[in-house]
Amino acid sequence: TTLMTLAEKMPKTELHLHIEGTFEPEQMFELATRNKVTLKYASVDELKAAYQFTNLQDFLDLYYQGMSVLLKEADFYDLTMAYLRKVHSENVVHVEIFFDPQGHLSRGVSFETQITGIYRALQDAEQQWGMSFKLIMSFLRHLSEESAFDTLELAKPFLHWIDGVGLDSSELGHPPEKFQQVFKACQDLGLKVTAHAGEEGPPEYVWQAIDLIKVDRIDHGNRALEDMNLVASVKEKQLTLTVCPLSNLKLCVVEDLSDHPIKHMLALGLKATVNSDDPAYFGGYMNDNYRALIKDSGIDKAELYQLAHNGIEGSWMSNEQKAAHL
Ligand code: HPA
Ligand code: ZN
Repeated sequence: TTLMTLAEKMPKTELHLHIEGTFEPEQMFELATRNKVTLKYASVDELKAAYQFTNLQDFLDLYYQGMSVLLKEADFYDLTMAYLRKVHSENVVHVEIFFDPQGHLSRGVSFETQITGIYRALQDAEQQWGMSFKLIMSFLRHLSEESAFDTLELAKPFLHWIDGVGLDSSELGHPPEKFQQVFKACQDLGLKVTAHAGEEGPPEYVWQAIDLIKVDRIDHGNRALEDMNLVASVKEKQLTLTVCPLSNLKLCVVEDLSDHPIKHMLALGLKATVNSDDPAYFGGYMNDNYRALIKDSGIDKAELYQLAHNGIEGSWMSNEQKAAHL
């Protein structure tokens, strides 16, 4: 078998996925019609033509617009189920997905509406296909720490459905230290913690995620490679990096996949994994990310296995669950 076939067939995990970033234009128009919401774009093609980004903020502007058609529990269910069906067909066996409650609360959609729709889909996928999952509530870092605390209060009746918390949205100017208190409160509640760091932000933000937030893993982490002391620390703590190749390409974090640092991360002994981030916006789901790495970054069979292995080890599954996949 070719490397491509191997990548497609092997059991995979997804550890960095924003459910609102799986909103395919066709489904977005379908829900807009269903909810009688008018989109700024006249057609699917016009919307797709806008998917050209020069940085993270360009993308986020469109991402928040897109999610504005999500209003009812059924919308969150349908969005999540479409994603899970898609990655089930790609041999993804375990998903850990983010949702952005503040992106919906600000539009008058209750926390309960959001999480119930998402959670029901995750449960159905588990029952139908044996796909296991974790759910991660992510705080928007361009908002205040107080707003994150308010969100945590709203989440409290649903904590039995929530495995961890994350930190996403505009990185530059919003360092992890801004959220030190709220992450401490989350950890005291028994939640796992991760944070986007070093996607656009400097190595200092990765240091803060480790030292101040005390993250269990790091989302992206590309710019950690600029500081060899930081690399040593990430390695020593065995922190998993949830790397997103096609996202990095689309958001101009890398110029070309031939310059992507993922091989270098592995060579340094860092626990890099492959993830799709916002697949509807970045041109591909899990297998597309692997195919692009094979074709353009030259990853070999040993690296392919290592990446998949890291995805299982770096997940928040129990040791028993992990053992069943290794
Ligand atoms: N980075 C930061 N925030 C995000 C992203 C991302 O790639 N996707 C959705 N929110
Ligand atoms: Zn992300």
